[in-house]
Amino acid sequence: MEVLNVKQLSKIYEGKVPYKALENIDLSIDQGEFVGIMGPSGSGKTTLLNMVATIDQPTTGEVLINGKNPYHLKKDDLALFRRRQLGFVFQDFNLLHTLTVEENIVLPLTLDGEKVKVMAEKVAEIAEKLGITGILKKRIYEISGGQAQRAAIARAIIHNPDMVLADEPTGNLDSKSSRTVMETLENINQTDKATMMMVTHDPIAASYCDRVIFIKDGKLYNEIHRGDNRQAFFQKVIDVLSLLGGDSGDLSTIRV
Ligand SMILES: Nc1ncnc2c1ncn2[C@@H]1O[C@H](COP(=O)(O)OP(=O)(O)OP(=O)(O)O)[C@@H](O)[C@H]1O
Ligand SMILES: [Mg+2]
Repeated sequence: MEVLNVKQLSKIYEGKVPYKALENIDLSIDQGEFVGIMGPSGSGKTTLLNMVATIDQPTTGEVLINGKNPYHLKKDDLALFRRRQLGFVFQDFNLLHTLTVEENIVLPLTLDGEKVKVMAEKVAEIAEKLGITGILKKRIYEISGGQAQRAAIARAIIHNPDMVLADEPTGNLDSKSSRTVMETLENINQTDKATMMMVTHDPIAASYCDRVIFIKDGKLYNEIHRGDNRQAFFQKVIDVLSLLGGDSGDLSTIRV
């Protein structure tokens, strides 16, 4: 079953000089798939993610999530759709610093008026799964980057969204924390069958995906599938990146 279907999507940023950031992108993601998006800086990855996230309107073409076009919804309904059907993970975590980890995680449920008891149960379960039970009462400025990103992932999935969208989730993390975060995402993908779309520059992060799509100059460039060997897949990712050129990944700093 397809969760996401992107058809002939194009985006032109209007301005003094209009800029075509995406051109005729076709992309489908099945229920439970973990898809990575890679490409040089400025190739249109965030633009694509933002259009799927219903944050930014396509110029032409269509985005269907579970068969429905969210852009046909009224403004208030669209905000609700985004909050209930999607989960977001960002490079800078986007957590509220004066709140505790637990308060941040339950935010999507608080906004929906969920019962306190139900929220507490869900937090306990999710924190256990993500290995952050011990820090639930801490405030965001008291925890590490890797812990913050796992808290952000907990917040992104606590309401069981149809799709989790991540933009450079390991962008601000050291390699050890990156690995923990990617293992966390992989685990959620496998045990909860969560559908995920992740933009990344990091070939190691990409190697956790089922499939990686490469974008160049706003167009689809290539697509590779993982199969059962992550190490071999990592090598394939590196190979495509070197073909792509640009600053698509700083290959000098990579350790597998
Ligand atoms: N709001 C905007 N107005 C005008 N041009 C924009 C806007 N946002 C992005 N662009 C341009 O569109 C192109 C694609 O940008 P985008 O942010 O999608 O790239 P990206 O692949 O995410 O790059 P990076 O890897 O650096 O994050 C870039 O050339 C960028 O300058
Ligand atoms: Mg970007």
